[in-house]
Amino acid sequence: MSSQFLAPVLGDAEEELERSLRPRSLDDFVGQERVKEQLQIALTAAKARGEALDHVLLAGPPGLGKTSLAQIVRNELGVGIRQVAGPALERKGDIAAILTSLDPRDVLFVDEIHRLNRAAEEILYPALEDFRLDIIVGQGPAARTLTLDLPPFTLIGATTRTGLLTTPLRDRFGLTFRLDHYAPVELAKIVRRSAGILNVEIAEDAAELVAGRSRGTPRIANRILRRVRDVAEVRHEGIVTTAIAEEALALLEVDAAGLERFDRELLRCVVHKFTGGPVGLSTLAVALGEEPETIEDVYEPYLLQLGFLQRTPRGRIVTQLGRAHLGEVDDSETLF
Ligand SMILES: Nc1ncnc2c1ncn2[C@@H]1O[C@H](COP(=O)(O)OP(=O)(O)OP(=O)(O)O)[C@@H](O)[C@H]1O
Ligand SMILES: [Mg+2]
Repeated sequence: MSSQFLAPVLGDAEEELERSLRPRSLDDFVGQERVKEQLQIALTAAKARGEALDHVLLAGPPGLGKTSLAQIVRNELGVGIRQVAGPALERKGDIAAILTSLDPRDVLFVDEIHRLNRAAEEILYPALEDFRLDIIVGQGPAARTLTLDLPPFTLIGATTRTGLLTTPLRDRFGLTFRLDHYAPVELAKIVRRSAGILNVEIAEDAAELVAGRSRGTPRIANRILRRVRDVAEVRHEGIVTTAIAEEALALLEVDAAGLERFDRELLRCVVHKFTGGPVGLSTLAVALGEEPETIEDVYEPYLLQLGFLQRTPRGRIVTQLGRAHLGEVDDSETLF
């Protein structure tokens, strides 16, 4: 049911592709100029002092470069990285094992950090603040607290939802960055960069076309590019033209606004089943057979940004613009 582009679980081939296209340095990382500038200053200062970089929180919708930035920080610092998913940090013992295995100035990358449980958070507080771990041994009157010194390290937390982070945790990050959707010129640059890595020759207007349909998201731009490459290869054409790009986009059912089948299904569902809304998120999720969290994190941000959908206290509403778009799609000769 979920869109193949943004399916939360990536296939092996897709993961492999993401790795090969991932920018390795800040210079390689396109756009997000303010983030890069601040990060560059912080990195330079930390390196000059020979200290661990302050803890970094990266927030923003999926596919905008959070994991890439974490890897870049690690590369720029020339240190090691440990990567874990928030929900996997369940038991105190696991956390202690990871923290004590770090080398000085290493990066601990915690993805989906908003999904850490309470116990995990509490053990992290002193670790983040004073690089110390408090472990309680024994029970009752015999219980004692053992304090373990940790090497100074940098926690990089990634989240699609800053709103879900507890205040004490949020306050422990010295650097907080919010990644925004990319502008079409930036995405075109990313498409050209990726095309270079994939050995695909792409015409300027074709790169712009792909960029314009990528919903402001580098990951989507790269996925579309891969399909474009398939079409080009099948047609035995050397250079990717707009005609080839159009054909790939039609195959993928990506419409002129960059929406995919599921985005349109979501809009149609609100319009037809709930007379345009307002409809509550959980009701909508059931009607679509999708997780509320996925709808909120993955599909809604771009629909909201386009002004096709609105969040109101009483629920979701499809706007006039959204209806007009559905009308255009239904009128067009494509198969959408
Ligand atoms: N600024 C950028 N410049 C070039 N490529 C980028 C940029 N940001 C992201 N990408 C590309 O998009 C892909 C997805 O980025 P990344 O995995 O870092 O996103 P994410 O924010 O961690 O997503 P998620 O929330 O799903 O974990 C990367 O493989 C990379 O190729
Ligand atoms: Mg990631």
